[in-house]
Amino acid sequence: MKVMHLNNSQNSSLHNNISINDIRPTSPASTNAPHKIVMDQYEGEVSKFWDLYIGSRTERVKNYSDTLVTTLRQKGYHRILDVACGNGIDSIMLLENGFDVVSIDASDKMLKPALKTRWSRRKENAFDNWAIEEANWLTLKDDLENLGYETNFDAVICLGNSFAHLPDLGNHQEEQRTALKNFRDVLRPGGSLIIDHRNYDYILKSGKCPCRNIYYNSKNIKDITTSLLYVNFIPKMIALDYDLEIPKPGKGQNGEQNLISFRLTYYPHLLRAFTKLLQDTFGENAKYEVSSDFNKQIMADQLEGKDPSFNPETNDTAFYIHSIEKN
Ligand SMILES: C[S@@+](CC[C@H](N)C(=O)[O-])C[C@H]1O[C@@H](n2cnc3c(N)ncnc32)[C@H](O)[C@@H]1O
Repeated sequence: MKVMHLNNSQNSSLHNNISINDIRPTSPASTNAPHKIVMDQYEGEVSKFWDLYIGSRTERVKNYSDTLVTTLRQKGYHRILDVACGNGIDSIMLLENGFDVVSIDASDKMLKPALKTRWSRRKENAFDNWAIEEANWLTLKDDLENLGYETNFDAVICLGNSFAHLPDLGNHQEEQRTALKNFRDVLRPGGSLIIDHRNYDYILKSGKCPCRNIYYNSKNIKDITTSLLYVNFIPKMIALDYDLEIPKPGKGQNGEQNLISFRLTYYPHLLRAFTKLLQDTFGENAKYEVSSDFNKQIMADQLEGKDPSFNPETNDTAFYIHSIEKN
């Protein structure tokens, strides 16, 4: 793992490595336009290769669809907002399971495959009624209301390590707090936010991602390199550099491969700090649960650090999935 330390006065790019400029807006005008603050990291190459990075869609959703669908049904939820739908992978799984889904994403490029699927399956009622829109977490309630949607969803889902894309541009996670408040505000009372992040406690400690992965297991993944940026001794950003190997067009049968590389950056949310962030937004007494990879509940004493057998830094959970209910 590459590690970089900066203080607030340093902002130059560091060789070929990560730079604070990767998380700060490039144009001063953008500070007045919240929806422009965050760069679309998926423009260009990344959106083209996201399907390859996911690998088999069926294999992927198998890892958690039963748990997610059962949880939503048990709570009597029907109308779901997928706020990081990307190519639509989770939205499609929910539509196939009978839910009403509104899917949004800030990246028009990422939405293209979702729009294509809606068109190709338009003869199925669920897909004909599937709403797909471009919208941003930082202006979500306004974006949806301006588009004519009622903002009283039963559940908001934000999966696949998406929320971590939102950087901390200042020192108090203002953007992340704004987005979480928007997620809360588009839920009906009794509705839930289901949101995940990679196990950054482990990544910060070990310098690499846990081997297990519930979302991204494509055979095309050749390598992932981790770099870490500290600002004033606080971990501020993780960059994952992905190398994918894909068969050369027309030559795949000879085993010739093209190497595709792209970088995505993330804010390293720690398990306990993220719980606190959610509770700051939804209230201390909001009903809250967190699971390890959708299959094992993290207990209150583990979260509070009272169980010595549980250490988030060595626990090989790949993703923590948090669920919090609006009062
Ligand atoms: C890691 S991808 C995950 C996509 C999909 N959920 C999956 O699991 O494959 C993250 C998605 O979040 C979207 N995203 C990032 N920041 C956003 C924001 N501020 N508002 C809306 N969408 C955003 C990106 O455009 C991208 O499609």
